[in-house]
Amino acid sequence: MEYVQMAEGLKFSRVVLGFWRLLDWGLDTDQLIKFLEECLDIGITTMDHADIYGDYQAEEMFGDAIRKRPDLRDKMQIVTKCGLRYKGEFPDVWPGENARVKYYDYSTKYIKAQVERSIKKLGVDHIDTLLLHRPSPFADMEEIAQAFDELLAEGKVRTFGVSNHLPDQFSLLESYVNVPLVTNQVELSCLRMENLENGVVNQCMEKRIHPMLWSPLAGGRIFIGEGEEEVRLRATLEEIREEIGAEDIDEVAFAWLFSHPAGFIPITGSGEIGLAERPVKALKYRLTPEQWFMVWTAVKGHKVP
Ligand SMILES: NC(=O)c1ccc[n+]([C@@H]2O[C@H](COP(=O)([O-])OP(=O)(O)OC[C@H]3O[C@@H](n4cnc5c(N)ncnc54)[C@H](OP(=O)(O)O)[C@@H]3O)[C@@H](O)[C@H]2O)c1
Repeated sequence: MEYVQMAEGLKFSRVVLGFWRLLDWGLDTDQLIKFLEECLDIGITTMDHADIYGDYQAEEMFGDAIRKRPDLRDKMQIVTKCGLRYKGEFPDVWPGENARVKYYDYSTKYIKAQVERSIKKLGVDHIDTLLLHRPSPFADMEEIAQAFDELLAEGKVRTFGVSNHLPDQFSLLESYVNVPLVTNQVELSCLRMENLENGVVNQCMEKRIHPMLWSPLAGGRIFIGEGEEEVRLRATLEEIREEIGAEDIDEVAFAWLFSHPAGFIPITGSGEIGLAERPVKALKYRLTPEQWFMVWTAVKGHKVP
């Protein structure tokens, strides 16, 4: 495994495990503990959460594992997110949330209360990295800065970052807060290249920070998508798989990400150790510029200018 320095005293594993789909994995607490141990054994130490995952239930399920095996906590870096509010399918697990619409709340009061809830649910005493889940057109940057300052001073959050922020939204927030923003977690895969082209990745490179990538396999679409671009992509991934000797095309899709100079940190979304291990295996491959652009060309359907 490779590790990436995110801030002083904080390293992330180059492959992160994401818990968005935790409820779909159908694991009980002991099975989740076993899976976490297996991930730690192969070097995946960074865990990506959000308050809302699993309709507000995923953090607590993960916390049940940590409460049963508190020794696991110190082997991990825990990332979680805040700011999105909606009334979940199971309002009883989210008492007090009566949102009439889904909305963003970045008031100092809400951010701080939300972090308290996440800490409690996750069974930890601090969050390693807190991300603002989505940019809000209604956010008061001073309120966010105050929340960050207080959470840092109270020892509840070690570092801060954002998710899904465009460069201007990142820069605006950065100009207000007194802490470094250590990452921007964005969607990026062979099938979703927008953030390579809209300045998001460039901004991270300029700031020497590493983007975390969500849905690095486009939510599984690279395997099952039937559109023209997906069919072309699979054929190209297969061609490169043979050239580099990879086990499956998912390793090539991850190698395509790892080969980029921005130092991407993909978040795998699988609850099966055999699949979670694929990006780890893919770390040993680096594509040539020609192979990298073969994937680009297959997806775009035209050559570069
Ligand atoms: N910041 C944000 O706004 C945001 C948004 C979305 C997600 N995220 C984060 O990103 C994480 C990953 O997203 P994602 O779950 O969409 O990632 P993904 O890895 O692109 O997609 C996961 C899906 O692909 C399948 N899959 C994964 N690896 C596979 C493989 N090697 N072979 C065959 N199928 C495979 C999984 O199947 P199985 O279920 O069968 O394993 C699962 O259904 C989330 O858990 C979350 O932490 C963040």
